[in-house]
Amino acid sequence: MSTFKLVVRDLGKDFNRRTIFRGLTFSLAVGDSLAITGNNGSGKSTLSKILGGVLSPSKGFVAYFVNNAKVQEEQMKDSVGFVSPYLNLYDEFTAAENLRILSLIRAGKKPFQSRADELIGMVGLWPRRDDPVGIYSSGMKQRLKYAFALLHEPPVLILDEPTSNLDEEGTEVVKEIVRMQKKTGILIVATNDSREAKWCKKKIVMKVAGA
Ligand SMILES: Nc1ncnc2c1ncn2[C@@H]1O[C@H](COP(=O)(O)OP(=O)(O)O)[C@@H](O)[C@H]1O
Ligand SMILES: [Mg+2]
Repeated sequence: MSTFKLVVRDLGKDFNRRTIFRGLTFSLAVGDSLAITGNNGSGKSTLSKILGGVLSPSKGFVAYFVNNAKVQEEQMKDSVGFVSPYLNLYDEFTAAENLRILSLIRAGKKPFQSRADELIGMVGLWPRRDDPVGIYSSGMKQRLKYAFALLHEPPVLILDEPTSNLDEEGTEVVKEIVRMQKKTGILIVATNDSREAKWCKKKIVMKVAGA
């Protein structure tokens, strides 16, 4: 079995001349879980994006290591599953088609059809899999984002506001996903809900810059 590590050194981010955060240093290995908490505008989403390799830091670095070999920056996204309010789905396509598009984007991955079916079932969308996503409710869209995020079995799963728009049943599905991810990989949860923060063993509290 391969080992996986996420290493953060002296990480900082500015937007224009506004400092969002500075000096974050930590590392996470398989089995680790990290809650990123703090008030609105404190930088939770910004930090999540940087940890997922989809936004560049202004200072320091984030690196992933598989068996102590550094993952190239362009390959980092293959190691991450992301669920967030700002992630968009293709409204004109069905759930099944959305998953097919994603698997094509992640070219070179193993055949996905049975896993896509399994995930659509797991998030409770099987009866609606052939409907265009544009007519889904916001909670149904949120459920589909979990199927998206898990399609390639990512070692790092990043959840920004994990239960937004979800009903109790959807929240239970998320808790099960969280339980499984903590066994097999790294879990990062950005939230200002203290119950969600308790899913994680470690915690960072972000502070609104200048406050
Ligand atoms: N693309 C951007 N350009 C400029 N400022 C941004 C951008 N994205 C976020 N910010 C600013 O960064 C700060 C942190 O935002 P964000 O990470 O979304 O906070 P949180 O998720 O904790 O509510 C806010 O002041 C926000 O206005
Ligand atoms: Mg946010």
